[in-house]
Amino acid sequence: GVSQLQVLTMEEIAQHNKRDDCWMVVRDKVYNVTRYIDFHPGGRGQLMRAAGKDGTELFYDTHPWVNIETMLEKCLVGVITR
Ligand code: HEM
Repeated sequence: GVSQLQVLTMEEIAQHNKRDDCWMVVRDKVYNVTRYIDFHPGGRGQLMRAAGKDGTELFYDTHPWVNIETMLEKCLVGVITR
């Protein structure tokens, strides 16, 4: 639940940049997308471009109609601090 969200830095998020441990930031929210990678319609390689990074621009440049907040609700692990 919301009460378990972590406050994370980009340095921490950058550690999770691998296929078996992959986090991604979109609009200041941090998602653990590890279990989603194999299901991404755009392919693994495309999604991995944002692995351990802020993928906001790539995400909205590619598919602004995709509702990430509902799709990845259960993958939400935290919010970023700048
Ligand atoms: C397609 C979700 C991250 C590139 C899609 C589609 C969904 C989706 C639902 C199908 C859209 C449709 O057909 O209307 C997600 C989610 C992401 C994510 C939940 C975050 C975890 C990314 C990133 C990139 C990317 C970072 C990098 C540029 C693409 C591309 C397609 C696509 C190129 C089009 C595939 C095609 O139609 O040939 N994605 N995406 N996605 N995604 Fe993502």
